[in-house]
Amino acid sequence: MLAYYDEVGFKDWTHAETGAPMLKAQHPEFEMWSQGIHSQAGVSCADCHMPYKRVGAMKISDHHVRSPLLNINNACQTCHKVPEDELKDRAETIQARTSHLRDLALDALVDLIEEIKGARENGATDDQLAAVLDFQRKASFYVDFVEAENSAGFHADQESARILAESINFSRQGQVALRKLP
Ligand code: HEC
Ligand code: HEC
Repeated sequence: MLAYYDEVGFKDWTHAETGAPMLKAQHPEFEMWSQGIHSQAGVSCADCHMPYKRVGAMKISDHHVRSPLLNINNACQTCHKVPEDELKDRAETIQARTSHLRDLALDALVDLIEEIKGARENGATDDQLAAVLDFQRKASFYVDFVEAENSAGFHADQESARILAESINFSRQGQVALRKLP
């Protein structure tokens, strides 16, 4: 996605404080799910978010689309024959770890933004900052990709961690590139 946006020179907005050409990740649930263990096992969105339920003698799919963690019996235990608490705990462990990595990525990005603002105040030009602003664009898009995805890592835990690690690295590389400015 990023390679495509770079190729066509697209930006959603310009960062007010640094001037970086920014991107907005727009709810990539499908893309994230497609990298996860459930998609590999053929488990679809509707299996978890619209599980079957009984209404009288009929079996229908639940149209109250919501968090499956509020409905673990129907949403998960059809496949996972383990206690509800255990399933909830496994999902929440993934989410807590993802949220911690997300916070690290956001802190790194804020550090980079603060340093770019400082460089601007010291007279750094657009040309000098081009590579650094590209790191900000990447770091921001990557952390936003996980945040805008809404499952806090559950749909694909390892892929979420990978994307957040890349984001942290982009921010820190941006800071290193700033140190090399004259
Ligand atoms: C294996 C079960 C499972 C599958 C398959 C699945 N999800 Fe989810 N989804 C979850 C869980 C668990 C959460 C986290 C809910 C929470 O944090 O309360 C979630 C969260 C979400 C949310 C946020 C909901 C909220 O109430 O905050 C959206 C939107 C979503 N999923 C969409 C999708 C889409 C679209 C797909 C298919 C491309 C999909 N999900 C596939 C289990 C699943
Ligand atoms: C339609 C069947 C199905 C449903 C519904 C389903 N799962 Fe799964 N789940 C699987 C399969 C299959 C695997 C992969 C097992 C494997 O490959 O070893 C899996 C794997 C997992 C894992 C291990 C993930 C990992 O990275 O190791 C967890 C945790 C999990 N499911 C929790 C849930 C929760 C919570 C829900 C409900 C929100 C749910 N599942 C709904 C079939 C399902």
